[in-house]
Amino acid sequence: MIYQIAVPSFADSDGDGRGDLRGIIGKLDYLNDGTDGSLGVDAIWLTPINTSPLRDFGYDVIDYRAIDPRFGTMDDFEELLGACHRRGMRVLMDLVLNHTSDEHPWFVESRSSRDDPRRDWYVWRDGRAPGKPPNDWLAVVEGSAWAFDERSGQYYYHAFLPFQPDLNWHNPAVRREMLDVASYWLAKGVDGFRLDLINFLYEDPQLRDNPLRFGIRPYLAQRHLHDFSQPESLEVARDLRALADGFAERALMGEVCTDTPEDCVAYLGDGTDRLHLSFYLDFIRQRWSASGFRGSVGWLEDHLPAEGWPCYYLDNHDLQRSFTRLGAKGAGEARARVAAAMLLTLRGTPIVYYGQETGMAQSRVPRQAMDDPVGIKFWPLRVGRDGSRTPMQWSAGPNAGFTTGTPWLPVDRTYVTRNVAAESADPGSLLSWYRRLIHLRRHTRALREGSYRAVGGAPSPVFAYLREAGDEQVAVLLNFAARSATVVLPDHGGSGWRCLLSTHTAEEACLGGHVVLQPYEAMLLEAV
Ligand code: GLC
Repeated sequence: MIYQIAVPSFADSDGDGRGDLRGIIGKLDYLNDGTDGSLGVDAIWLTPINTSPLRDFGYDVIDYRAIDPRFGTMDDFEELLGACHRRGMRVLMDLVLNHTSDEHPWFVESRSSRDDPRRDWYVWRDGRAPGKPPNDWLAVVEGSAWAFDERSGQYYYHAFLPFQPDLNWHNPAVRREMLDVASYWLAKGVDGFRLDLINFLYEDPQLRDNPLRFGIRPYLAQRHLHDFSQPESLEVARDLRALADGFAERALMGEVCTDTPEDCVAYLGDGTDRLHLSFYLDFIRQRWSASGFRGSVGWLEDHLPAEGWPCYYLDNHDLQRSFTRLGAKGAGEARARVAAAMLLTLRGTPIVYYGQETGMAQSRVPRQAMDDPVGIKFWPLRVGRDGSRTPMQWSAGPNAGFTTGTPWLPVDRTYVTRNVAAESADPGSLLSWYRRLIHLRRHTRALREGSYRAVGGAPSPVFAYLREAGDEQVAVLLNFAARSATVVLPDHGGSGWRCLLSTHTAEEACLGGHVVLQPYEAMLLEAV
């Protein structure tokens, strides 16, 4: 189980209002103290900590081999790494390979003149005609993906925001340098990377226009044939894998940002030669529907290579928090429990985003307090991503126990009741439910590594599946509806089913093949 830490928002050790590495060190017992009393995290993924102007949450790097002083020092990082390893926890870093900050010295040089030796480190082109960018490509955020540089009279390409110029991966020197950066951190002992926009590294060298298609948002009104998911990016996945395999036990997890689920699978190669894990966006696009999630999981299970392994998450720093997104008036908590049971019992590696386990909701960050450039630029049409990045709610104390200073984003008002201290003390809390699920998973081979099989014939609001390893068989029943439902479990030849964990039914209860689920009940049973 991977736990995503949004570093600026997790824990602040020095009172500057922003989370930092020493803050994380102080919370390791919460994540994993080796007992079932802690969360039981296997690995943490840190959002970017490299030196950065932090204009996009650190996804705008100016020094790939250094730690931003606002997050700490290299000594702090090494201490964190050592402390995690002593607890048997892994550390994954966010690696931003597609673009740098426009304040990165490489870009400053590249921009300085057309003849600069670094010019070709980024994607520069003449316009099609005066005032016309080189082609029709659109940036993920909005508008043309080309920004005009007055001084040198050319355009540079940025798939994301204009202050995030894309590196030119067709230049072998860029490729060498970025693989070297990866090597640098692996040699330091990091256990792997979350690879930002891994399928965006290469663009079509001829810069051909993207064909138009029907779509409401302009970005979706073109078929992105030439600006991302080019075959060369897959080769980088292969090179990174070869690099990682040169060290023991490292993992590569890719953000494959695409509407085409086949791309997500392609980045796994045959399951041994490219990334270990790749993000499957179809899963997070599902609304609250058992059949939607069943279909999404089914597709991935059917399309993975034999040695491939799924990876699921419901929350991250770019999404509206699932507590709100999947919730409903009066049923937020009940749905969050069903969602947690699903996330933590599917076949694959689950990622939990900080605060998801306590039920942090999407926060309404006022305009004047916003930090995300997307929200600042498009408010009120788009509110940006700050609402899922507010400070971790540790306690009911000042600033939710996150900082002694002024938090960089306002603490959500739910902190008085939704916080780690209060929920730790309450065996009926969402946090306690997460802990029980995670520990059951840890202790149950079928849940960790067993096969997945959907249970056919379950009523439509129920997502039901079996996880099987050796002679261990676990049934997972998730009732997505506010009314009860009966599920008929397959006959396994034994005497019946024993409840391992449920939101409603007593543990140890023995049930026959017919199980009546309460509204929003999540139940795990073992074949006996
Ligand atoms: C990824 C990150 C997102 C960032 C973008 C540009 O999608 O998850 O937060 O803004 O890349 O780097």
